[in-house]
Amino acid sequence: MKTINYSLPLRKVKLPILDNLKKYINQIDQNLIYSNNGPLVKSLQKLLSEKFFVNYENIVITSSGTIGLEIILKNLIRQKQNQIDEYYCLLPSFTFVASAMAIINAGLTPIFLDIEFETGQLTPKIVERFLSEKKVNQNKIIAVMPVSPFGAEINKENWDIFKLKHKIDIVYDEAWCFDSFKKSKFGNSVISLHATKSLGCGEGGVIISNSKEEGNKFRRFINFGFDQNKNSEFVGTNGKMSEYSAAVALASLDIWEKNKQEILNKQSYYLKKINAFSNIHVLAGFNNKWVWGALPIILNNSKELSKLIKTAKLHGIEMRNWWGPGVHRFPWSKQYMSSNLVNTDKYSNKLINIPFFQEISFDNINKVCEILKNFDV
Ligand SMILES: Cc1ncc(COP(=O)(O)O)c(C=O)c1O
Repeated sequence: MKTINYSLPLRKVKLPILDNLKKYINQIDQNLIYSNNGPLVKSLQKLLSEKFFVNYENIVITSSGTIGLEIILKNLIRQKQNQIDEYYCLLPSFTFVASAMAIINAGLTPIFLDIEFETGQLTPKIVERFLSEKKVNQNKIIAVMPVSPFGAEINKENWDIFKLKHKIDIVYDEAWCFDSFKKSKFGNSVISLHATKSLGCGEGGVIISNSKEEGNKFRRFINFGFDQNKNSEFVGTNGKMSEYSAAVALASLDIWEKNKQEILNKQSYYLKKINAFSNIHVLAGFNNKWVWGALPIILNNSKELSKLIKTAKLHGIEMRNWWGPGVHRFPWSKQYMSSNLVNTDKYSNKLINIPFFQEISFDNINKVCEILKNFDV
């Protein structure tokens, strides 16, 4: 694959430098503990339980977001009496491939559904429309996975109502929601700590479970199913975070508040400029109340998208639909059922991610908006 060196890429991240990391690496050198739920992972767990306003035990620190989604789903299958039946998980096709791969790796069959045009999200209404079509046995649908598009808040009250009504479990893919997460009554959430996200450590993830019991169960899942007596009670996996990754995450948290202010200032500048356009707008939910890790915008005229990408490229600026035209279109995913993807198709010609990151200069924001101005039709 040819890589292009853009002078202004979509995303540029800077994880903590050596000076910020030293304190934690020294701790590792003294502790001589490198993994298996070590002191740094525990300290990350504590800080995140405070940030997300949940009990310490509800938080599970994992080696990636994908593995977090996978074990939540595996746990749902374990609760079924007949574990060899085919079970389904519904998800929006407008997401990153990881959501669907976690479903498949957990042993479930994904079914791709549409999104609401305004928010870019799967909604209970869309799921209910699918259920009413009776294309599959409803008893075999054991989960729905709402996905936050790039961090936009999910309306969890609606999903809580859905769960009560249909008794289908909710597994939230909130990979991008480090700073926009809000707790729901039901369902477990996963946030990614991948380097691209607003708070990253390279590779890592967090499960925010809804009970201490589930939190403890998931901790066993990521450690080969072992209980406190070293009895491997069920087939788990290795989804543990190492102490070195936890060190990076803790150092990232140390500088989070300072970085946050700088990022919010840039968001507010960008928002003002984009809100002045008539036909281009930021994706719903991209307000200045939380720190973004990406910036998706919607064009009015789908014919303009490829011209915009080409023009930006001539200026060394990267613009791209980060998630592409829907997960259902990949060679491995075509075999799975999908239903009425009208808005997903529209998004493939209307949504585009534009450069955004902490160190983007105000000058470069101006340059991006100057180009966008010509496509505000
Ligand atoms: C929507 C979505 N879900 C899941 C993931 C997977 O997270 P991770 O890379 O931590 O496994 C990502 C990663 O970018 C994502 O964008």
